[in-house]
Amino acid sequence: MAPLSNKQQRRSPMNKPSQALIDIAPATGFAIQTRNLNLWYGTFQALYDINLDIRDGMITSLIGPSGCGKSTFLRSVNRINERLGYVRIEGRIEVQGQNIYDPACELVQVRKQVGMVFQRPNPLPISIRENILFGHKLHAKGKGGRHDDIVEQALRQVLLWDKVKDKLSRKATELSLEEQQKLCIARLLPVKPKVMLMDEPCSALDPKGTEAVEELIWELRGEYSILIVTHNMAQARRASEECIFMLMGKVVEQAPTEQLFVTPANRETADYIEGRYG
Ligand SMILES: Nc1ncnc2c1ncn2[C@@H]1O[C@H](COP(=O)(O)OP(=O)(O)OP(=O)(O)O)[C@@H](O)[C@H]1O
Ligand SMILES: [Mg+2]
Repeated sequence: MAPLSNKQQRRSPMNKPSQALIDIAPATGFAIQTRNLNLWYGTFQALYDINLDIRDGMITSLIGPSGCGKSTFLRSVNRINERLGYVRIEGRIEVQGQNIYDPACELVQVRKQVGMVFQRPNPLPISIRENILFGHKLHAKGKGGRHDDIVEQALRQVLLWDKVKDKLSRKATELSLEEQQKLCIARLLPVKPKVMLMDEPCSALDPKGTEAVEELIWELRGEYSILIVTHNMAQARRASEECIFMLMGKVVEQAPTEQLFVTPANRETADYIEGRYG
């Protein structure tokens, strides 16, 4: 889909959904679409005119050197940035065709649709069982299935059930880092988000843990649209189907992963994946 023209942009500021985009999005199979997204921390501009169409049901990796804006972009897609008073955002972000910055769009609804996994596992300092049920109780208000079943199903899906089934009341923070990260993914599942954002989810793990968590992410493909930030080129290549390369707050290239790695269209992409900087 072509980016909106400047004229269209002026007619459709962030808080007024453009009917054209809203009509088109559900049929196009995109999980996240951004148009002319710009972001400033105070006077510092961190994102420049980001126009992305991120496909539904696929794993997309986001790569680029430190400080290029990967986390900033991810945090814009579930509106975490807005808690910082000095952040200003212009442009549009749609998740499953819905303008998430529309005043009519409630933050709690965005958080239900868009789950996030961080660099360091951040389970709540409560039991394993209550970590899994926390989001569910918040969003489903207790409805939709027996709690025991929900806990078992989520933990089975991340291959943790056999390890923790006899210690569900133990504190989640006592688990190994790999198990904690799996738990952080598991606790998103009962909420049934459409999109999962993962900001370097394996960076705190050892190689064995990285492999286990990566395999798990791969398993979730199809059911969820996953956008994953990584500094690990091998991981991006192994684990994703589409790849986006960013540099200094701008998107340089978006392509099917194999294509981006084998025949990058831009010199900067080639330099980065060959390890010449970053
Ligand atoms: N909360 C903040 N306040 C002010 N500036 C910030 C803030 N967060 C990030 N920045 C700046 O915005 C730019 C992009 O940062 P961001 O963390 O998004 O990069 P990144 O690509 O995720 O980097 P890394 O690979 O190191 O995690 C950097 O110049 C950074 O210093
Ligand atoms: Mg980052």
